[in-house]
Amino acid sequence: MQLLTSLDYSSAEEQLDEAATSREETTCDDSFMAELLAGLSRADRAVPCRFLYDAAGSALFDEICELPEYYPTRTECGILKAHASEIAAAIGKDVRFIELGAGSGGKAEILLDQMPGARSYVCIDISPVPLAGTEAAVRQRYPRLEVSSVCGNYLGELELPKATGLRDVCFFPGSTIGNFERDDARAFLQTWRERLGPGGMMLVGVDLKKDSAILEQAYDDAQGVTARFSMNLLSRANRELGADFDTAHFRHRARYVADPGHIEITLVSTAEQDVRVGGRTFAFSPGEAIHVENSHKYAVAEFADLAGDAGFDVTRVWTDEAKLFSVQLLTAKA
Ligand SMILES: C[S@@+](CC[C@H](N)C(=O)[O-])C[C@H]1O[C@@H](n2cnc3c(N)ncnc32)[C@H](O)[C@@H]1O
Repeated sequence: MQLLTSLDYSSAEEQLDEAATSREETTCDDSFMAELLAGLSRADRAVPCRFLYDAAGSALFDEICELPEYYPTRTECGILKAHASEIAAAIGKDVRFIELGAGSGGKAEILLDQMPGARSYVCIDISPVPLAGTEAAVRQRYPRLEVSSVCGNYLGELELPKATGLRDVCFFPGSTIGNFERDDARAFLQTWRERLGPGGMMLVGVDLKKDSAILEQAYDDAQGVTARFSMNLLSRANRELGADFDTAHFRHRARYVADPGHIEITLVSTAEQDVRVGGRTFAFSPGEAIHVENSHKYAVAEFADLAGDAGFDVTRVWTDEAKLFSVQLLTAKA
């Protein structure tokens, strides 16, 4: 909790009001306190990765995308640019293009430029600041499109605006599907398969298995931006929930786990310490970790099996020459 001193001219109530307002501006998911307390109470401490993305986390993620070590963004953009017209043709006409986890956007535009058949665009994200920017940018660039946004958790029930006479096609770039455990990824695709109905499509950015050194550098860069991104979770808990994590006594760790094939990101305590959150105290020993994110990597055949189990055929797979990343078009089985 922020300390109030005699130099604070505003009352505690005003400060709390201000905090509440800024919280609304920075997230549209009010379950952080409950999820953090539940996650810290587990023997294997873990916090869902969606809490990495408040306004500060989203800005740091944008910085990560520019890093030399972080190949996924530039590789996926390269694939989209190289094959945009082919992808657009495979997607077809009279489409509502729904982007999940759009963040600061930019990738949808690569495709929309080539997609006269798209009539409507909806972006969805849990982080309102980049979402608003993405919605505004698409609205301005494509006056012909009906554009809307939904701020919310795509794991829950989302109220999508109604669309009549259009076929929904989901765009899920950024290897965000990799942040799901494999069973959860299957269940998530299945949910969308049911929502989309027969002939529904998903265009998914799927990161591929590769040398573990390339992966570990991508998630632990030399400039420490990825470390700041994951550590922001603790700073966010301090800012929003009045927790007292001492970020000097935690460190970011990214390591590749070969089976089944994922980067695991944890925040590791470097000292014996107590942390207070929501009136409770959590003791940490040196080396004790809070799990904050996994990023699963797939072989092309492995992802086809998973998509198949979820009720999709993989219609097309586009990759870069080095086979670092893939963009996969899934079509709901009849
Ligand atoms: C890995 S980033 C990808 C961003 C962007 N699509 C890209 O390709 O660079 C994941 C995005 O998904 C959003 N996100 C993460 N979990 C979410 C959830 N449960 N519901 C809605 N959005 C979520 C984050 O705010 C972030 O913008």
